Amino acid sequence: MERRSFVKLIGAAGTLAAAGGATTLARAAETPGKNDGAAAARPLVDGTPAVFAPTSRSATIVWTVNGAALGWVEYGTSADRLDMRSGGDADGFTPHDERVLKIRLTGLAAGTRYWWRCMTRALTASGDEAPPVASRVYSFSTLAPEAAETRFVIWNDTHDREETLVRLAGLTQDGDAPPADFLMWNGDIVRGNNTDASMIPGVYVHPRGGVDLAKGPPVLLTRGNHDVRGLWASKVGGFIDFPDTHEGGARRPFHAFRSGPLGAIVLDTGEDKPDRHPSFRGTAAFEPLIAEQARWLEKVIARPDIKDAPVKVVFCHIPLRWTDEKPQDYFAKPAGFDRFSKRGRDAWHDSLVKWGARVIISAHVHRWTHIPADSAFPYAQITGGGTAPEAARLIRGHATAAGLMLDVLDMNGRKTDTVRF
Ligand SMILES: [Fe+2]
Repeated sequence: MERRSFVKLIGAAGTLAAAGGATTLARAAETPGKNDGAAAARPLVDGTPAVFAPTSRSATIVWTVNGAALGWVEYGTSADRLDMRSGGDADGFTPHDERVLKIRLTGLAAGTRYWWRCMTRALTASGDEAPPVASRVYSFSTLAPEAAETRFVIWNDTHDREETLVRLAGLTQDGDAPPADFLMWNGDIVRGNNTDASMIPGVYVHPRGGVDLAKGPPVLLTRGNHDVRGLWASKVGGFIDFPDTHEGGARRPFHAFRSGPLGAIVLDTGEDKPDRHPSFRGTAAFEPLIAEQARWLEKVIARPDIKDAPVKVVFCHIPLRWTDEKPQDYFAKPAGFDRFSKRGRDAWHDSLVKWGARVIISAHVHRWTHIPADSAFPYAQITGGGTAPEAARLIRGHATAAGLMLDVLDMNGRKTDTVRF
């Protein structure tokens, strides 16, 4: 077969595999040699891994594969002794899949650095055991609620734009600033989940331009309206993770955490039009999610670590305030859309004021903005920069008991603004 058409054929099979989940894994095992052939054409491990959803006692390692494989994580508290190994999943399986391996490390110590590597072994149709493939050794640190200070960085509205991603990663991982405890990727990571599921890994796990998220810091996510839009948006959850800090270890796209003096509440603002908008084809149900978060907020602001945090910050993709709040005509052509989430604000404002939120850090409008607190809104509103390198911004946060400082950098690493709270 001519090389070009062979590559095309494998590409089509990859797309099918990504969309089909476990069914195609079963089919590969029934078809002798299928997996072996695909593995020969492409490396078993697809791109670099990522660390998502760090808490003070857990974190999730995700990596993607080009064929049926099983995986585990070897880890330890020194680089040369990875003496612990992840076990089975909640259903009793060693994690295995043909597209994504996702392993939650639990029972970790707070504020502790762990070195780790992921191990991948092909599941061949013949049952022959292939030697495992080891990733390079990386490290991350769990969050440290008791620390005297914390540093973090924020990316937003990257929309799969290569040059911006590469520059953000460069400033984050190779810049001269002290390392951050976490990266808040504040939504609109994708352009849209409208085509099929095969593009999800190359956007959320190993972004364009060779960006290696596993080099750190560990990633916390908010979902933007583009992340939740499209017929394949519901598949993204298989490739990312949220902290397991809800009752019973449930993972939800909203949560609260403590990192040193920073008490953070992460909210999900959903879409930028009402759920009934015809462009969503009935897939959107974010209004009930906003209402559920309002009920959860009333409780979480009384949680001692959140209530007593010296620095109180909210992260959410769509801002809760904007400079021009006139109503939108969602049903006009072209359709109006929310610059700020009135639905979210109406539901959450009272609890946020009661808690004492100092600032809402958002994205969405694609330009750096600082709207100070006033008598109607005792919390300030920040929005990060845009998608194009000229408009993009890296925000560096540093919280101490005395307050929060945000430094804003352009993609050349020049400081464009500093705000203190
Ligand atoms: Fe955006």
